[in-house]
Amino acid sequence: MPISSPYPVTRHETIAPGEERAVAEVVRLVMERMHMQYPAGTRAKRDAHPKHHGVVRATLEVEPSLPQEYRFGVFAAQRSYPAWVRFSNGSGEVQPDHVPDGRGVGLKLMDVAGSKLLDDEADAMTQDFLFINHDVFFVKDAKDYVEFFRISLRDKIPTKFFLGLNPFKWRLKELKNAKNTRVQIANPLNTQYWSMVPLLMGDRPAKVSLRPTISRATVLPAQPGPDYLREAMSSQLATEELCFDFLVQLQADSRSMPVEDPRIRWAEARSPYRKVATLRIPVQRFDSPAQMAFAEQLSYTPWHSLSEHRPLGGVNRCRYNVYREISRFRHTANGVPRREPTGDEQF
Ligand code: HEM
Repeated sequence: MPISSPYPVTRHETIAPGEERAVAEVVRLVMERMHMQYPAGTRAKRDAHPKHHGVVRATLEVEPSLPQEYRFGVFAAQRSYPAWVRFSNGSGEVQPDHVPDGRGVGLKLMDVAGSKLLDDEADAMTQDFLFINHDVFFVKDAKDYVEFFRISLRDKIPTKFFLGLNPFKWRLKELKNAKNTRVQIANPLNTQYWSMVPLLMGDRPAKVSLRPTISRATVLPAQPGPDYLREAMSSQLATEELCFDFLVQLQADSRSMPVEDPRIRWAEARSPYRKVATLRIPVQRFDSPAQMAFAEQLSYTPWHSLSEHRPLGGVNRCRYNVYREISRFRHTANGVPRREPTGDEQF
């Protein structure tokens, strides 16, 4: 059943006191920043991950004979899906690629039948999965995110969120997670990515990851240009097909692998990641102006989803309205329709 908000929650989730107020405040703050950053008449970009290196054409091929506990949603049967994969930098500023940053992947599968969770896009034929280049998130929940956001609006480096006046309230785990996410990379195609926050695999919480099938030692260019990540992808895909393993880590116990605290790593010793599909990116050119503009118009959200892969936990509940409002804002501001792709797009 499509839902008009992520509430009520699944049996795996617990709503933190004050959460709905905090979520409303995140939406308000993000929208306020969008209005300031993109006044009427300017071209609006995403509030987060505004810079993309490109969107590439791919296919996701589900493994044969998967064990029953993985055979849900898009992994229920052995088949393949067309996909658009958007590679991005996380910062809200469009900046040169050598600046340490979180690196994002939006994976959009097409030709996915079945009702989706967003009430205004229940008939969409797409299923999205979002990933970042680190496995744990830097805030616990929407309330902490509000505090982080308010401080970031004031201070360019939001040290006060992590290390305030009272050392007993220092957020060292958050600081470590944030530092480990913001890194330099040589090539987005040779990096591993994680969902950081859980989602359902049928009726069981899980986290997912994309891991390059071949690990390559790549080095940063001696004098990196502002867009060297796009150039690295472009020269690799000019001659070489690349693959990622799509991995799933099922929750083994809810205490050490919590749904409501994405700062905590789910130990692989308790539950290893298992390959469920291959993401195949064929040789291609992807950086024509038309295709780069297409990447700008796409909207990725973890809530473009079948109920079998429902996003879980407070951070995901917060993302429900944030992604939708931002996407509506930028499409209205830019005068382009919000439409899910079919995979038949040609450039
Ligand atoms: C409270 C937490 C979060 C907030 C408020 C937030 C906010 C946003 C916003 C506003 C966008 C731009 C959406 C658009 O304009 O269409 C975005 C994009 C994105 N976010 Fe988040 N995010 C959060 C957590 C996360 C987490 C945990 C991940 C982990 C995978 C993530 C991964 C991404 C990625 C990969 C994109 C780019 C998608 C694309 O290519 O369009 N975000 N986020």
